[in-house]
Amino acid sequence: MTDNLSPADAAKSAAALRAASYVKSGMKIGLGTGSTAAWLVKHLGERVRSEGLDIIAVPTSTRTAEQADAEGITITSLNDAKWLDLTIDGADEYDADLALIKGGGGALLQEKIVATASDRMIVIADETKFVDRLGRFPLPVEVLGFGMTATQMLIEEMLEGLDVSGSKAVPRMDGDALFVTDEGNHILDLHLERIGNPRQLSLVLNQVPGVVENGLFVDICDICITGFANGRIEVRDIARGSVETTENPNAFLDLAD
Ligand code: A5P
Repeated sequence: MTDNLSPADAAKSAAALRAASYVKSGMKIGLGTGSTAAWLVKHLGERVRSEGLDIIAVPTSTRTAEQADAEGITITSLNDAKWLDLTIDGADEYDADLALIKGGGGALLQEKIVATASDRMIVIADETKFVDRLGRFPLPVEVLGFGMTATQMLIEEMLEGLDVSGSKAVPRMDGDALFVTDEGNHILDLHLERIGNPRQLSLVLNQVPGVVENGLFVDICDICITGFANGRIEVRDIARGSVETTENPNAFLDLAD
C-alpha cells in the first residue's frame, strides 16, 4: 500500500505516475533505468493490463528489460524501433536548464543513445536531485577496459585545465572487481564537486581516447517532473520556460500492491 511507502518512494512514484500520463497508445517509448524509472515501468505495466495501453518499449538496461517484460510491456531493441516518441528516465542531478548527470546506476551509455533517439525526453526525479550547479554527484564516465589506467590519467590531467573544482577519477567497483556495464565496459566516477560548464566538459571528455560516453546530458531533456512525498508535482518545461506545480496529495493512492 502507498501508506507503507517511504517519503522518497512516494515522491518517485508521484513523479512517475505523472510522467506515465504522457504515454499514449501507439507510442514507442524509451524506458530508463534506476529506482525512479522502476516506478514508471510499474505504472505503465498497470495501464497495459487495466486499459490495454498499446506501446512498444525500448529498455535502457537488462534490469529494466526484465522488469518491463515481467509487467507485460512489449519490448524491442532500438534498432528495430529505429526512433522513439518519448523517453522517460531518472537522473542523479538536474539543474534549472535541465542539464543532467546520469549513470549512477551504470546505464548511461544506453540511456544517452535512447534519449537522443527520441522526439522528447522527460526526466522524473524527487526533490533531492535538483541542484543550482551540477557536480556534487560524481560524474560517471564509461570507458573501455583497454588502457583504462591511461584513460584515467588523461582525464585527470585534462580536468586540471577546466572549470571544475576537483580532478579525481575513481574506477567504480563491484565488490573486489571492476564494475562492468551492459556493454562490457567500465566506469570512472569523476569527483568534481562543481561543474562550471557542463557543455564544454561533455565535449572535451568525449575527445579522450578510451572514453565511450559521459554521463552529462546537455540539451537532451525537455521536461523534468519532480515528485514530492505528499504527492505534489512540479513540471519544468524547458521549451515553454515554465514551472507548473500541482498539489495532488492523492496522486498515488491507487497504487496498492
Ligand atoms: C542509471 O544509470 C542512472 O542514470 C539513473 O537514471 C540515475 O542514477 C537515477 O537513478 P535513481 O532513480 O535510482 O535515483
